[in-house]
Amino acid sequence: MRSRSKVWRTTALFAGFALLLSACGGDKPQNTLDPAGPFSRKIDALFDPVFWIAAAVFVLVEGLIVVALVKFRHRPGNPVPKQVHGNKRLEIGWTLAPSLLLAGVAVFTIPVIFQLAGKPTGNDLRVNVTGHQWWWQVQYPAEKVTTANELHIPIGRKVYITLTSNDVIHSFWVPRLAGKQDLEPKRTTHLFIQADAPGTYLGQCAEYCGLSHANMHLRVVAETASDFNAWVQQESQPAGQPPPGVLALMTRPNIACNGCHTINGVKDSTGSPFVGTTGPNLTHFGSRDRFAGDTYDNTPGLLAQWIHDAPSLKPGSDMPSFAGKLTKQDIDALVAYLESLK
Ligand code: CUA
Repeated sequence: MRSRSKVWRTTALFAGFALLLSACGGDKPQNTLDPAGPFSRKIDALFDPVFWIAAAVFVLVEGLIVVALVKFRHRPGNPVPKQVHGNKRLEIGWTLAPSLLLAGVAVFTIPVIFQLAGKPTGNDLRVNVTGHQWWWQVQYPAEKVTTANELHIPIGRKVYITLTSNDVIHSFWVPRLAGKQDLEPKRTTHLFIQADAPGTYLGQCAEYCGLSHANMHLRVVAETASDFNAWVQQESQPAGQPPPGVLALMTRPNIACNGCHTINGVKDSTGSPFVGTTGPNLTHFGSRDRFAGDTYDNTPGLLAQWIHDAPSLKPGSDMPSFAGKLTKQDIDALVAYLESLK
């Protein structure tokens, strides 16, 4: 019985290690060890030497422990070993050696900290990101573009992100482009990102922020300068107008999309614009790959499910359930309009 439970324990341990190691390396979209831009590369260039120094210290220290365990273990008949205390030479030695080691690591680390925390120049693209429970508002102040969960950036250009939070502390993390940066209520923090090549770089909130923290993803779409300019051009257009029936539905008091969402260029029957700020700006909703904190593919089926009962897809979401308030026809009409907003 005893040996069987031992076998199980060993098997479970090795399975656990295999699972842990499978998280490293390989072609993973959020692999911090596979930098895709100059800022993440600076961090990676520090990580490699520090890792090997730490590995050498680990092998040395653990090796000495194993040697001591075997060589000096208690044997029957052995007397209590001689107690040594206050060996000055030893104590100075094991204080000095790690201090020198850490000082050596600091020589390489400190300049990188300053390089990552630099100030932007006139040529850098500026983006403001605001964390919400649980999605990201993305604003391009100069371009006058507001979107959600999806940052478009031109390749080869520094992007200076100013971050803040609407509610609790979140953490912006796109592992292949930069390190982590917290978003804090009532203050701003900053982060540079830059991508070498076109592609989609995935990220997510890296600070526990409530019920749907795990549903707070984001993506950075890096594209050529001309593709980026075309995107900005498209995103700065006002939204297409909803058919009268859809507008009536969206402004019905028990639905009131306009209470929480902005849709540039759309007004209710009294002429008031849609300027809600609780939820994402929907002006170009149909152009986004994903929705609900980059958690679901932007398909008509999933969007219909979302409008019907959002908290069933994202627990705790501010978007309430409209179950019983909207018919299937209502939902289909809303989905058709939202998906048309390219
Ligand atoms: Cu936002 Cu975790």
